[in-house]
Amino acid sequence: MANQKHTRPATKILVDGGNPEDTKEIRKLLGYVDGQTTNPSLIAKNPNVARLVKSGQKLTQSQEADEYRKIVETISPLVGDAGVSIEVFADLNTTADEMFRQGREMNSWIPNAYIKYPCTTEGLKAAHYSVSEGIRVNITLCFSQSQAAAVYAATKGATTPVYVSPFIGRLDDIGQNGMDLIRNIKRMYAAGDGHVLVLAASIRNLGHLLCSFHYGAELATVPATVLKEWVGQGMPLPGPTFSYKPVGSEIKYENLNLNQPWDTFDIQHDLTTKGIQKFVADYKSTIR
Ligand code: G3P
Repeated sequence: MANQKHTRPATKILVDGGNPEDTKEIRKLLGYVDGQTTNPSLIAKNPNVARLVKSGQKLTQSQEADEYRKIVETISPLVGDAGVSIEVFADLNTTADEMFRQGREMNSWIPNAYIKYPCTTEGLKAAHYSVSEGIRVNITLCFSQSQAAAVYAATKGATTPVYVSPFIGRLDDIGQNGMDLIRNIKRMYAAGDGHVLVLAASIRNLGHLLCSFHYGAELATVPATVLKEWVGQGMPLPGPTFSYKPVGSEIKYENLNLNQPWDTFDIQHDLTTKGIQKFVADYKSTIR
């Protein structure tokens, strides 16, 4: 395989996308792909889904689910042990029971599924039910250290891996240094039992990727365009003198006690709400 001479980063590499052709291409370029993450916006951009919508053939909910299933079934055997994250459909009123119902169904699609729930009270309840049944979860749209603390506490005792996905680029977008959130969560989790792994998400450039390696994120989900750029530069890793130019203002570390009950943490974040609204809009744009 290509590029075997390069040192593989300790951080697992996931493709952030909804097109299996990208996964295949990256696998060829890197020689491996550890995993994949998908979400409703990425599925709406899948060439087949986009073609149907463009030709005026919007999908029924059940056709959309079939398309989503076909996409993850194609990607599933292409990736390693970091699995394929599949996101439930949730708007701001979706209950935990409904998310969990979808999560169970999606979990049956492929053997290496991780079910994505939003970092909200209902999403964390659904995650709590899921891990108690041995379903692997990925908590998405995480924008604060206290949300990450709630993820830890809500999934305590999990016997299957739990991912939390802090969104770097979207914090940069509002003038906060998104990389600080990765640093802060890693520092906070160092006092924990290691059952939650940090999956750096909303990576927009090589700086985000290299800094995620530098802070020791266990996983990073990366658009194919950024991975191609990384390969083009010889797959560099951050050296001892690595420095990252902060974007926006610093996000300060908070002293939080991971042993508190999960629902005592501040779970609300405006970007989580906006993120859910965007996923809903993109999903609905494909539906009749
Ligand atoms: O990994 C999450 C990602 O798909 C969102 O990225 O660039 O829309 O913030 P972005």
